[in-house]
Amino acid sequence: MQQISDHLLLKAIRKESIERTPLWIMRQAGRYLPEYIDLKNKAGGFMSLVKNPELACQITLQPLERFSLDSAIIFSDILVVADMLGIELSFEENKGPIFDKTIKTARELKEMKRNYDIAEVKYVFDAIEQTKKELDGKTPLIGFIGSPWTVSTYLIEGNSSKVFNNVKKMINEERILVNEILTELTDISIKYINQQIRSGVDAVMIFDTWGGLLQENDFYELSVRYIEEIKSSLIDTNIPVIYYIREPKNKIVTLNKMDVDVIGVDSTMGLGEFRKATNNRFAVQGNLDKDVLKLGELEIYQAVEKIFIEYDYHTGHVFNLGTGITPDIDPSKVNILIDAVREISQKFNGKEVNAKI
Ligand code: CP3
Repeated sequence: MQQISDHLLLKAIRKESIERTPLWIMRQAGRYLPEYIDLKNKAGGFMSLVKNPELACQITLQPLERFSLDSAIIFSDILVVADMLGIELSFEENKGPIFDKTIKTARELKEMKRNYDIAEVKYVFDAIEQTKKELDGKTPLIGFIGSPWTVSTYLIEGNSSKVFNNVKKMINEERILVNEILTELTDISIKYINQQIRSGVDAVMIFDTWGGLLQENDFYELSVRYIEEIKSSLIDTNIPVIYYIREPKNKIVTLNKMDVDVIGVDSTMGLGEFRKATNNRFAVQGNLDKDVLKLGELEIYQAVEKIFIEYDYHTGHVFNLGTGITPDIDPSKVNILIDAVREISQKFNGKEVNAKI
């Protein structure tokens, strides 16, 4: 029987030579799929899906039923950790996440619930167990957390700010408090991701969507340091870890110090340029601009080919978009993307340059 470790995704992560490049898509279960919208409306909203293991499992599998993708990612959100802090998370249509409390003063931090009980998010672990059963060893399942830094930006602002005024002010004026918040979030994240591992995920991904807001020095002090702590606390030292960052260009010195298997990047930097700058230390994930999926078949093929050429046909590539797929993408474009990645990568995989410069 084929072991899950023989799956293309896990081989690519180990930089082994493979017959074609694996592909999955960030936010592959989401609003661009009519079947997602249907089930979400029936359930009564996003959080009703997330909190119901059976529905979360069904939603996780939706994109795999429609497309041939090489990985599943558990349907949930990086912000569900709020449940462990006694903070209520809701999503308003087109407004993003909203919390009933924020943490931006020492007092709010003190009032925050301690003695975190991971049972508060049992729905995630149950969804993982059900999904693993359904996948039956055929496709790997990725579990995930947000980096403490990225999660803190939402908890400090109380919503999906995009401006981050409170966060920026706090970094300058209340650095100790920020570090205390990050320490708490790190503690929770370790418990939470380890329980996802116990529940059966095959790889873990750490989303550091807003790591790019930080200057390189702060980036280490406020984000990477805590990720290192999480990484060194994983109960399974062999489980692959994928770290996702946007705008990695001015973060290379720090990224080079990280102990992760894969770095996922957005489309602001070429994968080949990134590979060279990081001396082949990591496998890479990415990085097609999601807006390319609004173009025609020929343009999609050309953009996919450009990524392979730029990466210079090396091992250690998991194809993905640079950011999550959005509701304005026609699902039929994903079929074109899958065909393009298969066709183009098959031409050179097996003959690729081993990850040496
Ligand atoms: O990728 C997947 O398919 C797995 C599920 C997943 C979701 N969110 C589902 C979701 C994952 C891995 C995430 C991660 C996440 N969540 C991140 C990091 C990655 C990134 O996108 O940069 C962040 C920053 C969040 C926080 C979050 N969740 C925001 C800001 C929003 C609202 C805006 C938006 O992007 O839609 C969400 C909502 C959310 N999370 C949706 C989905 C499918 C849409 C909810 C809906 O149906 O209304």
